[in-house]
Amino acid sequence: MKILVTGKSGQLGRSLQKFISNFDHHEFTLTGREELDLSSSESISKYFDTHSHFDVIINCAAYTAVDRAEKEADLADEINHLAVKQLAEFANSQNAKLIHISTDYVFDGYKNSSYLENDSTNPINVYGRTKLLGEEAVLEAMPNNALIIRTSWGYSEFGNNFVQTMLELARERGEINVVSDQIGSPTYASDLAKALLNIISNDNFNKKTFPTEIFHFSNMGETSWSDFAKEIFKLANLNYKVTPISSEQYPTPAIRPKNSILSKEKIKNHFKLQIPSWKQSLKECLNQII
Ligand SMILES: NC(=O)c1ccc[n+]([C@@H]2O[C@H](COP(=O)([O-])OP(=O)(O)OC[C@H]3O[C@@H](n4cnc5c(N)ncnc54)[C@H](OP(=O)(O)O)[C@@H]3O)[C@@H](O)[C@H]2O)c1
Repeated sequence: MKILVTGKSGQLGRSLQKFISNFDHHEFTLTGREELDLSSSESISKYFDTHSHFDVIINCAAYTAVDRAEKEADLADEINHLAVKQLAEFANSQNAKLIHISTDYVFDGYKNSSYLENDSTNPINVYGRTKLLGEEAVLEAMPNNALIIRTSWGYSEFGNNFVQTMLELARERGEINVVSDQIGSPTYASDLAKALLNIISNDNFNKKTFPTEIFHFSNMGETSWSDFAKEIFKLANLNYKVTPISSEQYPTPAIRPKNSILSKEKIKNHFKLQIPSWKQSLKECLNQII
């Protein structure tokens, strides 16, 4: 299959690149904003004028600066919504399949148990609203042959993320205050990358046509940001103190959902995936970093 990947320099894009050599029966085209700028509908049209005939598009690119999005709503909308609409329309016109990555931030976080794919959405920040509009654009443009995969609390050995930030901040200060009243499931980007590669090899994905569906993916188990930080320092053998604080004590421009736990049963059953626990995967990532 000819597979187009956007966001090649992001956490998920770089994680995919770790494994694609095991899938050399497929031809991967990796793009960054230099080749395919998702903030410009012209750039997208131009790219597809000269590059077509993809069987699958995996959209890993997104405007992911959650706090900055509060002030850059138009740019976030361009990348997370309008560009996604254009990608989905192109994929549909080419009979290509689309895998679009979305977020737990489409939910408001008030549910008392893990979120199912068909739970009502109600984003509470700009980033979440633009990502939800992106999901809706996919569902409208592609009633068939697309997967929307929502993920949460992404980290990796690449780029800026919670794990890297904790290691840096604690090194500077020796102790750190971390929010304890937001719970969720961390996602090691390598695990999501492996899952995506397994999905494109799965019979359910390789049917000529399948109805577009939403799935959830994160590592198994759940934690709070402060317990996540404690586990990072424990596994890294670092004796740093973590003081749990409330979200109110750590105000940010964008409000975050209190509960971000996604149920993974649907994706596990549908694509026969085995998903590691967040602690097991954190250990693997720290081995890569340290
Ligand atoms: N990380 C998380 O915690 C998290 C949580 C939930 C959902 N997600 C979703 O997971 C997916 C992958 O995220 P990630 O963690 O890999 O994020 P990331 O590391 O921030 O990567 C985002 C990628 O998008 C690219 N991008 C941004 N603006 C672009 C533009 N105008 N044109 C083309 N590319 C552009 C970035 O390019 P540059 O490198 O050039 O900036 C980068 O490669 C995204 O859909 C995100 O919304 C992530």
